[in-house]
Amino acid sequence: MMQEYFSGIKDVKMGEHVKIVHPVNMYGCEVGDGTFVGPFVEIQKNVIIGKDCKIQSHSFVCELVTIGDNCFIGHGVMFINDLFSGGGPAMGDITKWRKTSIGSKVSIGSNATILPVNICSNTVIGAGAVVTKDIHTPGVYAGNPAKLIKTL
Ligand SMILES: CC(C)(COP(=O)(O)OP(=O)(O)OC[C@H]1O[C@@H](n2cnc3c(N)ncnc32)[C@H](O)[C@@H]1OP(=O)(O)O)[C@@H](O)C(=O)NCCC(=O)NCCS
Repeated sequence: MMQEYFSGIKDVKMGEHVKIVHPVNMYGCEVGDGTFVGPFVEIQKNVIIGKDCKIQSHSFVCELVTIGDNCFIGHGVMFINDLFSGGGPAMGDITKWRKTSIGSKVSIGSNATILPVNICSNTVIGAGAVVTKDIHTPGVYAGNPAKLIKTL
């Protein structure tokens, strides 16, 4: 027997003037006023996204991610909450998942991967970067692992 599920929008606390381009899969999350969500985006439960953000197509925002206001999340940005710290996937044991917090006015370039970290406000993450450590100083970070390449 097959189990079939359909993507869509379920139990989302939606702000005013939110713009969404389908298909998206969004459930149990919160999206602030004026935010744009492009196609093929998944936003999981308990994610909070602030006001006037742009979440571009093909991005994945997993549980335990918080994003501030005026952020730009580029195309195909992947957030991670399960570090496989026990040698493999946590297999639903959410005590092993870790949080990510993104400040405000953060721009994340296309195809970046964001491990469970804190990124301060007014920061730019380059395309294809892999962010493995907290970022406390505003600036431009790029590469794998992401390093500061410019202060702002
Ligand atoms: C990171 C970024 C913001 C830097 O831009 P910049 O300040 O103009 O930097 P520069 O082009 O002067 O590059 C500075 C150095 O960083 C390197 N660099 C730039 N972007 C990089 C990236 N994404 N990953 C790795 N290295 C990068 C450059 O090769 C250069 O190296 P060099 O000094 O050895 O020559 C930009 O390159 C970037 O990746 N932007 C993301 C844009 C994006 O994804 N937009 C999505 C909507 S289309």
